[in-house]
Amino acid sequence: MTDALPEAARGDRDDLPSNPSANTPFETILTRAMSRRRLLAGAASSAALAAAGALSGTAGSAVFASKTAAAAGLSTLGFEPLAHGYDETHHVARGYEASVLIRWGDAVVPGAPAFDPQAQSAAAQAMQFGYNNDFVGYTPLPWGSGDPAHGLLCVNHEYVDRELMFPDAADRVATTQSKAAVEIEMAAHGHSVIEIARDAAGRWAVVPGRFNRRIHVGTPIAIAGPAAGHDRLRTSADPSGRLVLGTINNCAGSITPWGTVLMAEENFNNYFSGDAAKTAEARNYKRLGLGTGEAEYGWARFFDRFDVEKEPNEANRFGWMVEIDPYDPTSMPVKRTALGRFKHEGAHALVDKSGHVVAYSGDDQRFDYIYKFVSKGTFDASDRKANIGLLDEGTLHVAKFADDHTMEWLPLVFGEGPLTPTNGFHSQADVLIETRRAADLLGATPMDRPEDIEPNLVTGVVYCALTNNGKRKKEQVDAVNPRAANEHGHILEMIPPGGGGGDKDHTATHYRWDILLLAGDPTKAADGAKYHPAVGAGDWLSCPDNVAVDTRGRLWIATDGAPKAGIADGVWATDVEGDGRALVKLFFACPRGAELCGPSFNSDDTVYFAAVQHPGEEKGSTFATPSTRWPDFRDDQPPKPAVMTITKIGGGPIGG
Ligand code: FEO
Ligand code: CA
Ligand code: CA
Repeated sequence: MTDALPEAARGDRDDLPSNPSANTPFETILTRAMSRRRLLAGAASSAALAAAGALSGTAGSAVFASKTAAAAGLSTLGFEPLAHGYDETHHVARGYEASVLIRWGDAVVPGAPAFDPQAQSAAAQAMQFGYNNDFVGYTPLPWGSGDPAHGLLCVNHEYVDRELMFPDAADRVATTQSKAAVEIEMAAHGHSVIEIARDAAGRWAVVPGRFNRRIHVGTPIAIAGPAAGHDRLRTSADPSGRLVLGTINNCAGSITPWGTVLMAEENFNNYFSGDAAKTAEARNYKRLGLGTGEAEYGWARFFDRFDVEKEPNEANRFGWMVEIDPYDPTSMPVKRTALGRFKHEGAHALVDKSGHVVAYSGDDQRFDYIYKFVSKGTFDASDRKANIGLLDEGTLHVAKFADDHTMEWLPLVFGEGPLTPTNGFHSQADVLIETRRAADLLGATPMDRPEDIEPNLVTGVVYCALTNNGKRKKEQVDAVNPRAANEHGHILEMIPPGGGGGDKDHTATHYRWDILLLAGDPTKAADGAKYHPAVGAGDWLSCPDNVAVDTRGRLWIATDGAPKAGIADGVWATDVEGDGRALVKLFFACPRGAELCGPSFNSDDTVYFAAVQHPGEEKGSTFATPSTRWPDFRDDQPPKPAVMTITKIGGGPIGG
């Protein structure tokens, strides 16, 4: 994101902890030890695992020898896992085919000019596919048809790698780049909606249809919900506090049950220059990581609204969840303030059996929190558009985990508990604008970077990827974040009360929790990894980030940061119940420098959409001398983030 900053350093900058609270609900050492024993028992729930003894985690474990035979019989996933590696291109499991559907610079809006990396312009970029594709969601055309072969693909563009993007060296540095380059960056952020279709031969292609649309930093976006119009959201350009230009750092997201897109605003602090401590929002901005000088993005050099000393409220208009209706290309996107303001990784909404909509969301920072929103209104299956607005009224909660594998959702409601004028909260708008500080006061549990959250609609269990937290100290370990210096991350299960699947109560205030796996190398005792015992030296993963659930309820785990452990990022799949629980299998591996985003399926799992983000983002890798030129491998083309379709050769569902 800045001057050839290595990926690891970028991650550190994005994820510096800013939580000053002492929210570490520790219990006694004895309780923790007992709880860890329960974790082991919980993870080893299947008969096969019990027979195999403990989970894998020690070098030379006898189960490694029989891994292949064991894995073949235990997993429902019918593909042979890839071997680890790290090279210039992607790899997919044998029997599958991966093709580029759309890449940075390809046409989105009909009439977009052909991409020329040597002659980029903001006007062209605003019609072309943006940079660093992250969230990918498929929704059928027409709505309600369930058509698996024709639909809309909705894709976020999270950020840019200017050192790989621009031919002019001055444009590759935030402090020297031209205004034209800044405007190209602004147009390369945001979102793309593209119509796609599968032909008789099974090939997917972009259709230059009327739905195709780009949303970027120049797009007008409405602000709705309890914080809309509040004084703290008013600026010189928008005295109403209800209309903002653009959305930034759009990471993960989801398609709602009514066919809209929820897209997150994550590391928005990196775009605001000036000394945040000199503003009336100093406490608020410090908690969100706004700094004292030049931001990573040099936009404030040309646009005053990105300088907090000149426009002190503009940063309060970012850090929200944004809803887009992809079926109406003229509709204005809306920031839904009721879902809170923090570094949203994404949000995933479902319709609870009560009819209320429940949206889960993670705050991706070391030692930050997990949230859920419960709507006041109920879902109307007969009128799609009637549901647009359900996310404006309801109750936001934050998660508090206990070492005994129970958890509680604490409501963030103005006037309740500490959320009063004594602590600087004068309305629900204040609670939402400073969601993190409100959650600190309630005693929420600091987590190991909550990334993507996705409910498993087959089992009713909610999955959260906790990507890593190298800064957790021994004395900060608790049962739900059980490793100090957690460099590899883990996968959390949040279990609402009730029966299976749709019978679970997602509006409940008390859940149980478990851990599906602790990532890392199971042959290195120091990693403290825990998986199914058949997972061995060639199978493990590191830094789970984005997750998807297929229609059979199996979990697909995409990673961001595995290269730090010496292997490519990619996607691993696993059963979550039965004999194959936590038996991870590598399905797709990224080219060097890239992480795997998306991922998602169409409506019958016959295509898997994989977003390869930031290929070639490595120390010393530049436009002129990138570490890979994936996916085109042409000397006149830089590496390009791209969305791939992965299909089974001969057809059929992914994973069997
Ligand atoms: Fe943009 Fe937290 O990944
Ligand atoms: Ca992510
Ligand atoms: Ca990521």
